[in-house]
Amino acid sequence: MSAVPPMPRAGLPSQTATRGRDLDAYLAPFAAGYRCRMSSLVQWASSHAEGLLGPLGARWAHVQVVAEQASRIAPAVLPADEREILVAAAWLHDIGYAPALATTGLHPLDGARHLEALGVDRRLCCLVAHHSGATFEAAERGYTAELDAFEREDGPVMDALSYADMTTGPAGQHLTFEARITEILERYPPDHPVHRAISRSRPTLAAAVERTARQLAGVG
Ligand SMILES: [Fe+2]
Repeated sequence: MSAVPPMPRAGLPSQTATRGRDLDAYLAPFAAGYRCRMSSLVQWASSHAEGLLGPLGARWAHVQVVAEQASRIAPAVLPADEREILVAAAWLHDIGYAPALATTGLHPLDGARHLEALGVDRRLCCLVAHHSGATFEAAERGYTAELDAFEREDGPVMDALSYADMTTGPAGQHLTFEARITEILERYPPDHPVHRAISRSRPTLAAAVERTARQLAGVG
């Protein structure tokens, strides 16, 4: 990484009002321990995301909760050496919405290209590029070749990123997967690329979320 600015944040944001109580109780000790060990990469990712998305209000609220979800579930679904990149990707996954970065309109691609230009770890760039079914939206917008310049990772880290993103609403509210899909379909008109893409990607995303949910339930 070419630049890692000083990190003013002391830990992940706290938001507990709407989570399931059983899952909270199970994950709380893991999450508390992880906050204490917040790595420099995660600190940089959160600071960089805040600089780009902080002025956007609801979008920043969404990202903070996605990152918190990722930090909470990571110890339960990933080995120790895979947790940091998940949480960093969660902080950075939507930076492509920042007006300064939005050039193609495909926010995963715009975000990944920005990170690539900064010299950020390749795997992190690729996770951002392909998060939450970006392949489907790339096809709708005519950017398949550009997105395919970033390798797509399939596995528990990408599944957990999808889980965190697809169970968090656009203003940071906790949602079921089905409610999240419904709100996206209602937020964008039927002829919008996002509406068409989420309709097509729904089975793929559902499978990813289900795999992580089964891990969290101890049956995966
Ligand atoms: Fe998101």
